[in-house]
Amino acid sequence: MTAIIAPSVLATDLGSVSEEISRVHEAGAHWIHLDVMDGVFVPNITFGAEAIKSFRKPEGCVFDAHLMITQPERHIPAFAKAGADVISVHPEATTHLHYALKMIRDHGAKAAAALNPATPLEVLDWVWEDLDMVLLMSVNPGWGGQRFIPAVFDKLAELRRRIQERNPNITIQVDGGVNLKTIRQAVQSGATNLVAGSAVFTGKSGAAASRATVVAEYRENLEALLAEATADQFV
Ligand code: DX5
Ligand code: ZN
Repeated sequence: MTAIIAPSVLATDLGSVSEEISRVHEAGAHWIHLDVMDGVFVPNITFGAEAIKSFRKPEGCVFDAHLMITQPERHIPAFAKAGADVISVHPEATTHLHYALKMIRDHGAKAAAALNPATPLEVLDWVWEDLDMVLLMSVNPGWGGQRFIPAVFDKLAELRRRIQERNPNITIQVDGGVNLKTIRQAVQSGATNLVAGSAVFTGKSGAAASRATVVAEYRENLEALLAEATADQFV
């Protein structure tokens, strides 16, 4: 069992995103979380496939595209072509979840469903075989720097139970408000892939030179938490 810390570039200065990606990648964070917002599904607008194509991708780096856009199926081929290795779509944003997930795999990427805090897990009931990852939002999507919604810890645990029964190959990602305070309960509840934006790129890690320290700190914490975890937490 491995745990992954996936820095979200939403919290960086987008003018220097390629440099930031390279810094955290060198520090051992090999997944880069890319928050795509369309100003419709969520109020903000960030960047699209063309911008992702221009981000420099270090060797061995995984581009994890979180599509907070309506009708994501219209854009999946473009994101796959732009270098996204994992693509998450919101069931709240499409009437064609199965079709969208299949389209992601058909374009060579790993398929994920991203669920808003109030979206029930039942939305996944008929697509367990079509998923490589489930992303649980632990804040309402649209902004970085929000607080982790505590009810999501129980939702993570319930998701972990269902995954064990229905498709144990699925990994669980949690996104929003992840920091050194919330990481423990998130991992204990079942998440093994943790997105962190402001915790990695702002606050005490504000200076570029400290990225390596912050990423190392998260990786050490994750390793310790996994070592502590009882075997049945993950089976
Ligand atoms: C929110 C985004 C998150 C965000 C997380 O809509 O999906 O990925 O960047 O930021 P933090 O870690 O600051 O909550
Ligand atoms: Zn995200």
